[in-house]
Amino acid sequence: MRPYVIIYVTASVDGKIASVSGYSRFSCEYDLRRLHGLRALVDAVLVGVNTVVRDDPLLTVRYASGRNPLRVVVDGRLRIPENSRLVNDKTSKTLILTSRHAPPDKINSLLSKGVEVVVLDVVGYELPMSKVLLELSLRGVKSLLVEGGGETIWGFVKEHLFDEFRITISPYIVGGRDAVTVVGGNGFNTDLEFVKLILRDVTVCECGSEVHITYSRR
Ligand SMILES: NC(=O)c1ccc[n+]([C@@H]2O[C@H](COP(=O)([O-])OP(=O)(O)OC[C@H]3O[C@@H](n4cnc5c(N)ncnc54)[C@H](OP(=O)(O)O)[C@@H]3O)[C@@H](O)[C@H]2O)c1
Repeated sequence: MRPYVIIYVTASVDGKIASVSGYSRFSCEYDLRRLHGLRALVDAVLVGVNTVVRDDPLLTVRYASGRNPLRVVVDGRLRIPENSRLVNDKTSKTLILTSRHAPPDKINSLLSKGVEVVVLDVVGYELPMSKVLLELSLRGVKSLLVEGGGETIWGFVKEHLFDEFRITISPYIVGGRDAVTVVGGNGFNTDLEFVKLILRDVTVCECGSEVHITYSRR
C-alpha cells in the first residue's frame, strides 16, 4: 500500500507560493507551528529540487516538538547543490531520488557526504510519483508530507496520488504571470479530468489574518 500523502502549501490570496524573485515566506508563526507539527507526525517530507536551490530548506521540526522525518528530494537530473543544507545537515537523513541520467561523479560525492541517492529505473528524467511512492513504501514510509514546489505538487496531483490537500491562504497579493503557482506543470488535458478530481470533506480554520483549508480525499 502506498504512503498516506498530504500536500501542504502556503499561498498568497492569488494562489502564488513564491514571487518571481523567489520570495516565499508567506507563513505566519501559527502556520509554521502547524506545518512543523505535521512534519513531526509523518515518516517523510518531500520537496522538488528547485525548492532546495531557491530556499535551501532544512525540513526539520523546529516550531513544534517531535522527531525529524526522513527528507526526500525528487531530482531527476541531480541538480541539488552540494553545499545545500539538506546535503550537509546531519540532524536527519536525506534521500535523493534521481534518474539514470544523474552524473555518476556527483552521485559518489553525495554518497560520500552521507546522503542516500537512489536511481529509479525510469526512461528519461521524470520520475513518476507512483514509482517514488513505491520506493518510499519499500523503505517503510507510511505517511508523506509534500511541501512543494508547484512542479512537484503537479506530479502528485496529475496521478491523483494524494489523500489530503492543505493550503494556508496568507494575506498577500503577489500578482504577475511568472510567479510560482500552487500547482505547476501542464495541467489536465481536459476539463473532465479536473472535474473528476473534485475535493470534498473540507475543514476551514481561521487564524489571525490567515485561513487554513484541509480537503480530505479518503
Ligand atoms: N509557499 C510554499 O508553501 C512553498 C513551498 C515549497 C516551495 N515553495 C517555492 O516554490 C518554488 C519552487 O517551485 P517549483 O515549482 O519551481 O519547483 P519544485 O517543485 O520545487 O522543483 C521542481 C523541479 O524538481 C525536479 N522534479 C520535480 N518533480 C520531479 C519528478 N517527478 N521527476 C524528476 N524530477 C522532478 C525537476 O527538476 P529538473 O528541472 O532538473 O528536471 C523540477 O523542475 C521556490 O521558489 C520555493 O520558494 C513555496
